[in-house]
This record gives sequence, C-alpha cells and structure tokens, in this order.
Amino acid sequence: MSTKTQSAFLTGALRSIVMSLAILVLSMCMTVAATAVDDTVKERQRDMKEIAAAAKAIAGVFKEPETYSSDSFRQAATSISVRANQRLVDHFATMTVAEGSKATEAIAAEPDRFAAIARDLKSYADALASAADRHPGAMSNDMRMKPGEPMGGGPLGTRVRNEATLSSMSAEHAFHLMLQTCSSCHARFRSD
Ligand code: HEC
Repeated sequence: MSTKTQSAFLTGALRSIVMSLAILVLSMCMTVAATAVDDTVKERQRDMKEIAAAAKAIAGVFKEPETYSSDSFRQAATSISVRANQRLVDHFATMTVAEGSKATEAIAAEPDRFAAIARDLKSYADALASAADRHPGAMSNDMRMKPGEPMGGGPLGTRVRNEATLSSMSAEHAFHLMLQTCSSCHARFRSD
C-alpha cells in the first residue's frame, strides 16, 4: 500500500467510526427522550389518580359525616392541593398530546384557560383544608351545603370569583364546585 492509499484507507475507517458513534449517540438520545415522555405521562396520570382517590375519600365523608376526622379530611384536601395549580400545569407544559395520554391539543392552544382551571382546583382544595382546620372535632352543620347554595356555579360557571365568597361558602359547596373543575377541565382538555 502506498502512503497515499494508506491514508485514504485510514480516513475512510475513521469516517465510518465517527458515523457509527454519531448513530449510537443519536439512538441513545432518542431512547432517553422516549423515556422522558413516558415518565411525564405516567407521572401526571399518577397525580390524577391520587387526586381522584382523595376526592373519593372526601365524598365518602360527606355521605357518612360520622366518619369525619379533621386530620384525614385535611390530608385528602392537601393531597389535591399540592397536585393542582402549577404542578398540574407543569405536567403538561412541555408535552400535551403523547402516546398513552388522553391530553388534547387544546392545552397548548389555550394554556391560560387550562391554568385557570388548575388554579381553581387548588383554591377549592385549600378551602376544604382550611374547613378541616376550623373543625377539629366533628363535621358540623356549617360544613354542609346550605339551603340556597346552588349546586352549579351559576351563569359565571365554576370559576372562583374571590377569596371572600370562597371562605363564606360551606365546605360541601366548595367540594361540589371542585368536582366541577374536574369535569370542565376534562371536557375540554382530555379526550375520552
Ligand atoms: C386543569 C385540568 C384538570 C383538572 C382540574 C383535573 N384534571 Fe383530571 N385529567 C386532566 C387531563 C389533561 C388528563 C389526561 C392526562 C393524560 O392522559 O396524560 C386527566 C386525567 C385524569 C384521570 C385519568 C388518569 C389515568 O390514570 O390516566 C383521572 C382519574 C382524573 N383525571 C381525575 C380528576 C379528578 C377527580 C379531578 C378533580 C378533583 C381532576 N381530574 C381534575 C386534566 C385535569
């Protein structure tokens, strides 16, 4: 082999090594990206399941008020609160539609609306937690729905209007409005 063919051979070999390395790195990155997608979807679905479990526990207490305990009521409300608002928004911020996910494109198209409902979820959950703080003993009547408290959110929907109305409403009413944030978010931002 002449020096010239030798160096051409080396360059060729080097090039193919570099190419294989590049392909290897690329495929590693793709695997990492796919795992990240999976993790994000799993995490947000896990959070939703926790939220649902806590909401179910609270519903159970309103059904059987004698089972009320301030601590577990607050825990359930807090479990929802910490998973609402920013944490909920963050779970959908980098990726909406993905394999294995029911999230819709509307989240990316209407981020403010999505964030507002996520924030309302937290406000209602916080109202429930503070009701538990104010009722260390039994569930008293003022935690129950008052006559005249509408089940729905009225013409303005379920949006939290201000802190004052929130703190004056009964815990049960806040709970019903909280459940409506679930359905209004799902109706728009989750596919069936
Ligand atoms: C701001 C929007 C929003 C609010 C509020 C919200 N959710 Fe969700 N929820 C979603 C989206 C989006 C999905 C689909 C997530 C996915 O598949 O990636 C979802 C999925 C779920 C799931 C299915 C989880 C799974 O295993 O795939 C349950 C259960 C659920 N939500 C319950 C609730 C309950 C109960 C509430 C209210 C207490 C609630 N959600 C409030 C947006 C919301």
